[in-house]
Amino acid sequence: MWTAITREVSPALGDCELSYVPREPIDVARAVSQHHAYRRALEGLGCRVLSLPAEPTQPDSVFVEDVAIVLDEVAVLTRPGAASRRAEVAGVAVALNHYRPLLALEAPATLDGGDVLRLGRTLFVGQSARSNAEGIGQLRALLASHGYAVQGVPIHGCLHLKSAVTQLADDSLLLQPAWVDREQFAGFRIIEVDPAEPHAANVLRIGNALLMPASFPRTRQRLIAAGFHVATVDVSELQKAEGAVTCCSLVFRGAE
Ligand code: GLY
Repeated sequence: MWTAITREVSPALGDCELSYVPREPIDVARAVSQHHAYRRALEGLGCRVLSLPAEPTQPDSVFVEDVAIVLDEVAVLTRPGAASRRAEVAGVAVALNHYRPLLALEAPATLDGGDVLRLGRTLFVGQSARSNAEGIGQLRALLASHGYAVQGVPIHGCLHLKSAVTQLADDSLLLQPAWVDREQFAGFRIIEVDPAEPHAANVLRIGNALLMPASFPRTRQRLIAAGFHVATVDVSELQKAEGAVTCCSLVFRGAE
């Protein structure tokens, strides 16, 4: 059984952090409805969904992925790179405390969970504006005794590593070559996003199931042609907040 921790959309979503997408008006009511559909989609893919209440003073708090890294053995609370997001950690920590022993990064480390792509026993971490060398080093030190390697990955032109690459199957990745070098992932079968859909590399994998935004039909077609079954969900208002499908949940094997 999978557990997915989510947090409902903040009424302040329009005041979110933005780095690589232009600010445009966000229809918060529509975002709330899309997030509801996202949670139903997670349930449809086999998750027990825990839905934390909206945080009116934390615009980006719907993007729970950034505040923790959940592994089978432990969870690591991050220190988000955007100072405006650091208060988001405490509430998710309370929820995660029921499922995993908690470790935590400390200043001057910064690291966003959106920069962390776990492939087997290696955590690839985007060297982004949000995740610094101290963050990557602290993560490496915390997880070494649990048998994980941590490897920094240069990225450019996008917010997080998982804006540029996500996992489709044990041996397969979906990747945006303009934002991350495919040579970083030698040995993996790489499928590239359709050039007309630069933001399409963010796919949520839950077991053997995949979920991606409905707005990338060309890339989805590539995945279907490669033999993958991919469910879709409309997250257009969350995309305006520089979000996608992985960042709206923390998915892990749950105890219940
Ligand atoms: N709006 C998502 C982020 O910048 O963290």
